[in-house]
Parts: sequence; C-alpha cells; structure tokens
Amino acid sequence: MGVKRGRGRGLFITFEGVEGSGKTTQLAGAAKLLREEGYRVLETREPGGTLFAERIREMLLGHPADSPSAEPIAPECETSLILASRSQHVARVIMPALREGTVVLCDRFSDSTLAYQGYGRGLDLDVLSDLNRFATAGLTPDLTLLFDLPVPVGLGRRRQKEMGQNRLDREPPHFHERVRQGFLELAARHRRRIRVLDGSPDPETVARQVRTILRKFLQRRKKPVPRHNP
Ligand code: TMP
Repeated sequence: MGVKRGRGRGLFITFEGVEGSGKTTQLAGAAKLLREEGYRVLETREPGGTLFAERIREMLLGHPADSPSAEPIAPECETSLILASRSQHVARVIMPALREGTVVLCDRFSDSTLAYQGYGRGLDLDVLSDLNRFATAGLTPDLTLLFDLPVPVGLGRRRQKEMGQNRLDREPPHFHERVRQGFLELAARHRRRIRVLDGSPDPETVARQVRTILRKFLQRRKKPVPRHNP
C-alpha cells in the first residue's frame, strides 16, 4: 500500500503510559497549545480512531471478562483485535492526515502493544514488533511522550473514576507493574524517540514539561511542519 512512501510534512506524536498516568489530559493540553501556535492538529486514540476501529475498541475493552460467566479472551485474540484496529486507523486516518501536513497526536500506539501484550501478557516481543510493522506499514512516531508514575498511584486515580475503568484496568497490580517496566525498557532502547516524563505531579506541572519538550522538538526539526495561522 506504500504507507511509508509520501508521508508528507506532518508530525506523528504519541502519548503513552500506564493506566491513570494523565496522558489523555496532557494530549488535550498539547493539542490546544499547538493549535494556538497555528498548527493543524488531529487528536486521536488507540484502540479506535475510526468508526470501525472504535467498534473493535468497544468489543475489546467493554467485554465483561471480569465476570465469572464471561468467556476469557486469549492474549493472541486481544492482540489481533488491537492490530486490526491499528491497521485501519493508520491507513484511513493517520497517514492521510500526515500527508496533509497535520500534527497527529495519538493516545497510545505500537509501544502499548509491546508493553501490554508483550511485557504484560508475555507474548513474544519480536513477533509483536513484526506484527506492528505489518499493521502500520512501518510507520513509527516522530516523538513519544511516556508518562511514568508508580502503578498504585495510577490505579488509584482510575478507581476514583470507577465508570472509566476498562477490562485491562481490572488486571492485577503485578500485570501493570510489568507494563510499567516494559515502557521504561522501551524508553531506554529508543532514547531519541521516547521522552519519559514524571506523571505524578499535578496536571499543570506536567503540562509545563510537555510544552517545553514540544517547543524544543518543533524548533529542532529540519523539515518545518506547516502552520496555518502563523
Ligand atoms: P485507555 O484509552 O484508557 O488508555 O485504554 C486503552 C486500553 O487498551 C488500556 O488498558 C491499554 C489497552 N491497550 C493494549 O493493551 N494494547 C494496545 O496496543 C493499546 C493501544 C491499548
């Protein structure tokens, strides 16, 4: 399909972290900042981001697997659904936006699959990397912001919003500890792309760090991202 070709002048920034890390709030703040600075911005998320992919998300996260009568989902099935959602999202939404010169801000992407299905569920990381390449036709983020914080703090925040809990939130704490370590290992392996931020402080303090990183990143880019109201 040639997704890698003709990627255009857009910018692809992903927001990652364990449950309750504040990444979704920070993504909204970053979108506001970038729009004020004249960039065309698309906010999107995974799993999801297209009508069809959002239906996969509902199936995946809304499934009541925590009830004793529910059918447990095999890790391979979970992974396949996530990748199905990702391939649709990349082909139909992310790549077209990047070609138009849009800054795409995505709440979770391929790193989440390595962290959750790889480090969390124990699936083979090399296999998952190959599958990610297949689903994305090789698209990787230009920049990833990883919001790190202790698992009990994140889960505590999520429990306060009981309605917002999904099937994976309800995994035991040691699952989320593996996911956190996984994200940190990925960050150590991809130092240039993944920037680790402390997600523990109040949202405004974290937002200041996000603003600094984004401004520096945009200034340093050799290929400027188009602004629409400079
Ligand atoms: P969130 O939108 O609240 O972060 O929820 C998305 C959930 O989906 C979260 O529990 C992590 C999970 N997930 C995976 O397990 N693997 C993935 O590749 C992605 C994108 C999400």
